[in-house]
Formats: sequence, C-alpha cells, structure tokens
Amino acid sequence: MELMEKLNETKAFIEKRLDGRKPVIGMILGSGLGDLADSIEDAAVIDYHEIPHFPVSTVPGHKGRLVTGMLEGKCVMCMQGRFHYYEGYSMDEVVYPVRTMYMLGIRSLFLTNAAGCVNTAWKPGDLMLIEDHIKLIADNPLRGRNPDGLGARFFDMTTAYDKELLQTAEEAAAVKGLSVRKGVYMLFTGPSFETAAEVRFARLAGADAVGMSTVPEAIAASHMRMHTLGISCLTNMAAGILDQPLNHEEVLETGERVKSSFTSLVREIVRRWPEEKL
Ligand code: HPA
Repeated sequence: MELMEKLNETKAFIEKRLDGRKPVIGMILGSGLGDLADSIEDAAVIDYHEIPHFPVSTVPGHKGRLVTGMLEGKCVMCMQGRFHYYEGYSMDEVVYPVRTMYMLGIRSLFLTNAAGCVNTAWKPGDLMLIEDHIKLIADNPLRGRNPDGLGARFFDMTTAYDKELLQTAEEAAAVKGLSVRKGVYMLFTGPSFETAAEVRFARLAGADAVGMSTVPEAIAASHMRMHTLGISCLTNMAAGILDQPLNHEEVLETGERVKSSFTSLVREIVRRWPEEKL
C-alpha cells in the first residue's frame, strides 16, 4: 500500500477516536518525561497497537500510546513512547507518527530526549535546546520515492529547528528560573553507547550532545514544513569524558532527578507557544 494511502487510513481511525479534539502541537516525550502525558486533561488515549499501520514500541519503560487532550490551555497530541532506529524500525517507520500528526492538521512539533553530554563545560542534568543537528549516518527518512503529498523532494534544513520557538523556550526558562544550554545534537544509531573516540570526534565535529533519537523526526517534520522545537536532557557525560563506564541506570536516574524542572519548562513552553505556529 502507498504511504499516503496508509496515512489516510491511520488519520481516519485516529480522528474518530479523538471525538472532536483538534490537537495543534505534537509532542514526543523522551525517557523520564513520559509521566507528563498522564497529566493531560480530558485525554483521548489510543494504544499504538490499535492504530492501523503504526509500529509498536518495544522499549521497557516506554509506554506505547498516543494521548490527546489539554495541556496548559492547548490541545496537544502526545506520543508516550517513541520508535527508535536501534529497535530495528526503518526510518520510515520511525517517522510514521510525525507524518500522522501532520495529516491530522498539526503544524508544530515538540521533541524531547535524553542525551549524552559532549560539551565538557556542561554537566549531567543540564537541559539543552537543540539549535541544530548532525546526522552522521547515511540513512534518511526521505530516502526513496518522495511522498509529494507531504513535501518537496529537496528541502531546506537550515530552519529545521524554529528560531522563534527557541526564543520562546528561552523566555519560558527565564520565567521558571531555569538555566538552559543551546547546542548541537549528533545522532548515533545505538544501541551501543558511543566509544570514547567517537565522542572526541563528535566534539571536534561541533556537537554538544549525542543521542539515538529525534533527528529522523526533525527531518520528516522539516520536509513537511512543520515548526519544530527540540530539547535534550543531558543525563550523563558522554563516553570517555569521565573515567567510568556508561550505563542506562545513570540515564534513568538523572532523568528522574530533573523530571520536575524539565516538566515545568515543557509546560511553560506549551503555554507560551506562539499562536501563529499552531
Ligand atoms: N549516548 C547516546 N544516547 C544517550 C546517551 C549517551 O551517552 N545518554 C542518553 N542517551
């Protein structure tokens, strides 16, 4: 079946379940932020496995459901659990939910993730607004026949991370008394963490953070000219910076430690999201 045909079926199914709700911001919540979706009011909850053509989440701790309802006065559609390339999904599968959001009329995308900190002047627990990314790997969600119904064959990436939304995020952080970093996120496929040499390479290349998500979604969103904001929770110093091995527990612990400030920042940003981007 053609992509557009699938998307139309997915859209029709979800629309019925939304019961008149009209989401304006799509949100993808990374490790540690999943609970935010539980505080969405008047929520319509749809398990991924119910949705025609949707991939199904396999990561422990990631719930696999789409939660749509009110957050800070805006109707949001929240992915509680995302699809990672390292799980074995194709790029097309990884970005399928973002395309679904677009089909449902959503024009703004809010991405969050956990990432390793490459910048040695920063520390675990810092939050980083994503200004730009580096996709080292060859694969791209737009490789193959272009879905003309979504966007152009060749498309700009200089505006992939919306400048105005970055400013909105900085204002929201200031209001909440939080300091945030701004920097470059570099995608590695995982699931192995990077080597120490790869982290040195990432730093030389201009990266401030390394991670295993977000970039495919940001590319697909840019293809569809959506307004995207991305924030990384820097859960650990990237490999080789400290004299200790990396482990997933540290990622989860730091995520837990900064959850409340990260959540309050995300809420304040949603509250301040510029009307003209909705
Ligand atoms: N590397 C890649 N992804 C990550 C890391 C890391 O150090 N921490 C959290 N996600």
